[in-house]
Amino acid sequence: MPLTQLDVHDLGFTYRSAATAALSAVTFEVGPGEIVGLVGPNGSGKSTLIKLIFNLMERQRGAILVTGCDHRSEKARSSAIYLPSDNELPEFLTGREYLRVLAGLYGHDTRAAGWDVEARFSRFGMRGRCDHLIEDYSHGMQKKLLLSGAFLLQRQLTVIDETLNGIDLDAVEMCKAEFHDMRGRGQSVLLCSHDFSLLEEVADRVLVLRAGRLVANLEVCTELAGGGRLSHSVRAALGRG
Ligand SMILES: Nc1ncnc2c1ncn2[C@@H]1O[C@H](COP(=O)(O)OP(=O)(O)O)[C@@H](O)[C@H]1O
Ligand SMILES: [Mg+2]
Repeated sequence: MPLTQLDVHDLGFTYRSAATAALSAVTFEVGPGEIVGLVGPNGSGKSTLIKLIFNLMERQRGAILVTGCDHRSEKARSSAIYLPSDNELPEFLTGREYLRVLAGLYGHDTRAAGWDVEARFSRFGMRGRCDHLIEDYSHGMQKKLLLSGAFLLQRQLTVIDETLNGIDLDAVEMCKAEFHDMRGRGQSVLLCSHDFSLLEEVADRVLVLRAGRLVANLEVCTELAGGGRLSHSVRAALGRG
């Protein structure tokens, strides 16, 4: 097992049309079995960081390793999965077809143990919906489909960009149980969310971005010791305490 699942070093990025950098000198690591929150105000660079990790935009400065390999390599791409904040799903497919295509992209055998789409849908409160078109799914169901894909594929690194915002409470509980199992398997999660109580429950650490800079890397249990709240620590890190 590599020492880190994700290693971001001195990452910088400026959009062509922008006067200021969207990310500057961002450095952090995510270890095996770690669940790391990513927070920051709107526009602080969270999605830009995630898109760069997945090489959806060309890196301009710094280095990114996924499971010890350059993030552009085939090994890195097959080790990680990304759940975008805007549900960009092929609406002309059914949920089952989508998951089959996704599995194919990862070279995953859908006959493997645990690959039971019906059961997965039922656990997410979507019994009997896997053969319906994605275009007929609600916004929350589309998010649950994205999450189902990630939980079925069990990559070494799962990066979730706000996908847990807007799903029902039962689904959030399911996700917590999945994160627990992932941690046990040494798989890691980078979880971008504005839900601080969720992060208090599931995250080991929380990275705080402010205007493209990493201003804090908080150990959650340290921040909660003595009755502290994560939201207060994050606000303090943002200079709003
Ligand atoms: N395609 C783009 N072109 C130009 N600027 C962008 C683009 N996408 C994001 N930005 C800018 O980059 C900064 C970071 O945005 P983003 O990474 O989406 O933040 P977050 O996900 O934290 O809300 C913001 O100032 C935003 O306006
Ligand atoms: Mg975003």
